[in-house]
Amino acid sequence: MARKLAVIGAGLMGSGIAQVSAQAGWDVVLRDITDEALTRGTDTIKSSWDRFVAKGRMEAADADAALARITTTTDLDAVADADVVVEAVFEKLEVKHEIFRALDRVVREDAVLASNTSAIPITKIAAVTDRPERVVGAHFFSPVPMMQLCELVRGHRTSDETLATAKEFAESVGKTVVVVNRDVAGFVTTRLISALVVEAAKLYESGVASAEDIDTACRLGFGHAMGPLATADLTGVDILLHATGNIYTESQDTKFAAPELMRRMVDAGDIGRKSGQGFYTY
Ligand SMILES: NC(=O)c1ccc[n+]([C@@H]2O[C@H](COP(=O)([O-])OP(=O)(O)OC[C@H]3O[C@@H](n4cnc5c(N)ncnc54)[C@H](O)[C@@H]3O)[C@@H](O)[C@H]2O)c1
Repeated sequence: MARKLAVIGAGLMGSGIAQVSAQAGWDVVLRDITDEALTRGTDTIKSSWDRFVAKGRMEAADADAALARITTTTDLDAVADADVVVEAVFEKLEVKHEIFRALDRVVREDAVLASNTSAIPITKIAAVTDRPERVVGAHFFSPVPMMQLCELVRGHRTSDETLATAKEFAESVGKTVVVVNRDVAGFVTTRLISALVVEAAKLYESGVASAEDIDTACRLGFGHAMGPLATADLTGVDILLHATGNIYTESQDTKFAAPELMRRMVDAGDIGRKSGQGFYTY
């Protein structure tokens, strides 16, 4: 079993992926572009483990051992011998392209190159490499140490072997995997939440039910932990509008056409919890 992991990007997601992997016994090289970003990333990991130890969910010795398995670097060449690489840099195609071009030059030929992108087609990322069959989507959820799901996405050329290695990796770090067999916009999770939020916002916009009642219907009727409109407020109405817009553009499926209300909310700055006003007032 492959045991050396490289994580590119030490932000929210990259540090979380490094954390759960080191905890599961992987040797992790965490790469970012500045020492400050690396320090921020490792500080986040350390304080998360401190909390686990304080709550009795982890032994202090295990936290120390896991920390010793993480090395940090600003040098991309240091990831050359990784078995699996997970990229978690900014959600911008040109930044991801730069990384995957560089990875293609330096990383072992048989390594698996995974992207944690939330929405960029894996096929587009893989296209700048000479090994698109070794590129796969590995979409973790935030906060990574708490969220159980990893959505694995097959690009147009991803091989069965690559998918199998990615699955083995994600399961080894304690995640439950769902496989997305075609590289569709929004994968499975963002497509589902987008369709639900769009319909919930339409019902609310047309006065069919109040925001509270729509959310209560999903919580108590379907056992959802949180209703779709509260979820939209938490994620950001702007973020969801952008996500549904992308899916609509790619699929031309009108169930992803967001209602005008969502656009006006974003125009007004009512984007949810982070602004104090969304479908609810905070
Ligand atoms: N935040 C979420 O809830 C979430 C959930 C799932 C997936 N994602 C995806 O994960 C990826 C990362 O998101 P995040 O929230 O961790 O972002 P973030 O802004 O917290 O971290 C990004 C990190 O990448 C670093 N970086 C930028 N260019 C780099 C380069 N060339 N080499 C190495 N490091 C570089 C930055 O310095 C920063 O530390 C994005 O693609 C995002 O869409 C995010």
